[in-house]
Amino acid sequence: MSSLARKHVLVGVTGGIAAYKSAELVRRLVDQEAIVRVVMTRAAREFITPLTLQAVSGHPVRDALLDSQAEAGMGHIELARWADHVIIAPATADFIARLAAGLANDLLTTLCLATEAPLSVAPAMNRVMWDHPATRANIDILSRRNVHILGPDSGLQACGETGEGRMIAPTDIVSCLNETPSTGVLQGVRVVITAGPTWEPLDPVRALTNHSSGKMGYAVASAAIEAGADVILVSGPSFELPPPGATIHSVKTANEMLAKVESQIASANIFIGVAAVSDYRPVEASRKKLKKGQETIRLDLVRNPDILASVAARADGPFTVGFAAETEATLNNAREKLLAKGLDLIVANSVTSDNNPFGSDHNHLLLIDAKSDLDLGRDTKSALAQKLIIEIARHYRAKHSTQDT
Ligand code: PMT
Repeated sequence: MSSLARKHVLVGVTGGIAAYKSAELVRRLVDQEAIVRVVMTRAAREFITPLTLQAVSGHPVRDALLDSQAEAGMGHIELARWADHVIIAPATADFIARLAAGLANDLLTTLCLATEAPLSVAPAMNRVMWDHPATRANIDILSRRNVHILGPDSGLQACGETGEGRMIAPTDIVSCLNETPSTGVLQGVRVVITAGPTWEPLDPVRALTNHSSGKMGYAVASAAIEAGADVILVSGPSFELPPPGATIHSVKTANEMLAKVESQIASANIFIGVAAVSDYRPVEASRKKLKKGQETIRLDLVRNPDILASVAARADGPFTVGFAAETEATLNNAREKLLAKGLDLIVANSVTSDNNPFGSDHNHLLLIDAKSDLDLGRDTKSALAQKLIIEIARHYRAKHSTQDT
């Protein structure tokens, strides 16, 4: 079954000659069993009639923000919430500029601002307009906001010129929407991930540990595999099923985790420390079960090595990402860890009554670098892991392109 089956797809059509291809796009999406609604700009009506798009989508087409009849049915905010995907095809240079500027001066731009659904645009314009620094800058802004830019293709254009700027084929747009947005962003990249808790033995039956289930780290490993990475997962004790495709190394203690990470790290491009590593371990683990006796006992603990900090400190080390679970001042405390350990990024999760990440299928993540932060919102761990991997890939590529120039 297509991943688009029963998905709500909002197709935005803007005023370019390629608008005639939108009817085929809608038909192809309906073939995939997607439920499609179409919104046109006023200019698009000069190129294709609403009736054609209504006929292929099976739903009335909207083009006006202040249409009281349509607002009484499905208002523009409901339409923005209804969408699972928004695809603008064709997207003219003018529409791309308005989107980049964050304008909301017609129904389609307003929907793009009001939706939380993934947004894709299929640019279509003359090759000189596509190459213009203003368009390049606008496309760059949209890419950095995670808007998926599909195409354009190169070839003979409606204006008679030949070059880049043709809208990609409707079948290719459907294939792109069918894929996970993170597909390929880490192709050829080797990622080492730590997950789960560590287990620091006190005696053969007792240990110091913490609440990590491994769910967050395993979700990050799965998302990295989906994104094309070669993933090595170094995991503390966990009942989670290992993500298919990852090379798993099971460890118990922080020292074992460090040794395994060190044996894998030389060939890694990215290191992500999701594990909740015990900061201390008993100075000595008893070989025999400790007997109950006194009301209170004292334990001598010694600091464990900091795996993340040691990876970040390596000369020619990988791009390094840490996690931080904080009960207060989440942003400040996490950024302090980022700076103290010399990390590229840190992912903070608050431990509060509204969000307890330990063992839960949900979480709320904040991605932090030295200067800025990005709220990835509250979602399932797998959805957050996908968003996170897209962001990590973007920061990793940006760092490498700066180093290469
Ligand atoms: O496994 P789940 O149930 O899904 O829960 C996920 C999680 C809450 C454990 C995870 O999202 C998370 O936040 N992990 C980090 C927990 C934490 O607070 O770590 P920390 O502040 O002690 O350490 C900060 C960073 O340094 C972490 O990346 C940690 O892996 C690393 N570290 C810490 C100590 C140490 N000795 N070595 C390390 O590498």
